[in-house]
Amino acid sequence: MHHFHYTDGILHAESVSIPTIAEAVGTPFYCYSTATFTRHVEVLSQAFDGSDHLICYAVKANSNQAVLKTMAALGTGMDVVSEGELRRARAAGVPPNKIIFAGVGKTRDEMAYAINEDILGFNVESAAELNALSEVASGLGKTARIAIRVNPDVDAKTHAKISTGKSENKFGVPYSQALALYDEAANLPGIDVTGIHMHIGSQITELEPFRLAFARMREFYQELRTRGHNISHLDIGGGLGVPYRGTNDIPPHPDEYAKVVRDTLGDLGLKFVMEPGRMIAANAGILVSSVIYTKPTENKHFTIIDAAMNDLIRPTLYDAHHDVWPVIERPKSADRVVQDLVGPVCESGDYLGQNQPLPLLEPDELIAFMSAGAYGAVMASTYNTRLLIPEVLVNGDQFAVVRPRTTYDELISLDKIPPWFT
Ligand code: LLP
Repeated sequence: MHHFHYTDGILHAESVSIPTIAEAVGTPFYCYSTATFTRHVEVLSQAFDGSDHLICYAVKANSNQAVLKTMAALGTGMDVVSEGELRRARAAGVPPNKIIFAGVGKTRDEMAYAINEDILGFNVESAAELNALSEVASGLGKTARIAIRVNPDVDAKTHAKISTGKSENKFGVPYSQALALYDEAANLPGIDVTGIHMHIGSQITELEPFRLAFARMREFYQELRTRGHNISHLDIGGGLGVPYRGTNDIPPHPDEYAKVVRDTLGDLGLKFVMEPGRMIAANAGILVSSVIYTKPTENKHFTIIDAAMNDLIRPTLYDAHHDVWPVIERPKSADRVVQDLVGPVCESGDYLGQNQPLPLLEPDELIAFMSAGAYGAVMASTYNTRLLIPEVLVNGDQFAVVRPRTTYDELISLDKIPPWFT
């Protein structure tokens, strides 16, 4: 559920009309809804009510400081994958004892930074990383708490580029090697083994892959116990999918997901850490764009808009679908034209929608790409020397620009002219 809706035929984010924001900041822009973020955190939290748990929001999904502050105010921890994300989480006021650090390529500098911050824990992804972490921690005279990310070799049945739990993926330690690595970790200086971690992929729309992975986690935990390891938490990752096509593809509700977690792991008496990103942020954001031109050709009807693949890369990178809502509502009976929504970038892959049956859109008309709050702004680039676009956060009847549009001067001045030109 989200808080973008038509009031008197005009699309609103909570109580703020989208044309009002467009007038203030120009297009394209991202618009987020505080009430939607809040609701998603609450729904997930309620689903795990009664079980000891910590929601560590996956910062990578949407790392705007205002979004992180919104999460922090709701009491969530954070899952970070770089020193940059850790700094963002800390800047937003998240206490270090609610931050976990994941990723296959943490550098020694990043490890040292995180150890000095005394974060809750590291999710370790290889023997080499474990040894580096031990050296860095003991060199600092400190201890790093760890979970090892175990790759359960489970098919998450999602897009190949966002599947992480199969043996051919770079993530985690193969199930067959993980026990030995736990034994090794227990004997390393500067390392305190506290948890087990699994994350099998993103935009998972079925419960079965979770059930299989958690069943393997259970087996694995029991094996660790018999070997004398003292595990206090299970990090069950993120990955729960969201509806990208209105009501046509409803993924499991967090209650059903929590039931699978409880059914498979609930009796172990351990704390659950989870790392949701998309399910909290995706439907809390939209990308608003203006139509520049329409271009009917023999084969296609192109609607050329001012947002492009550099602003929202998901359609071209993952074949992702984002519903398009005209900002001024059209009658349900309006004639529909099958169209491609394309941006100004010089690539055929520059589309935000393909073969979408939509009302005929007119130049200067505003449209909204729905469910763009996760992996939208964070994946934007300045390709074609296009400016990073504004992000706006709505809260009830207020809105604030939480990232202004960059300027051409700012962008160009990042480049430096070598001395031989002067
Ligand atoms: N934990 C780990 C270790 C992860 O790698 C990820 C996402 C998450 C948690 C959060 O997963 P979520 O709950 O958001 O599914 N850019 C892609 C998605 C990449 C996901 C990367 N890892 C997209 O736009 O679909």
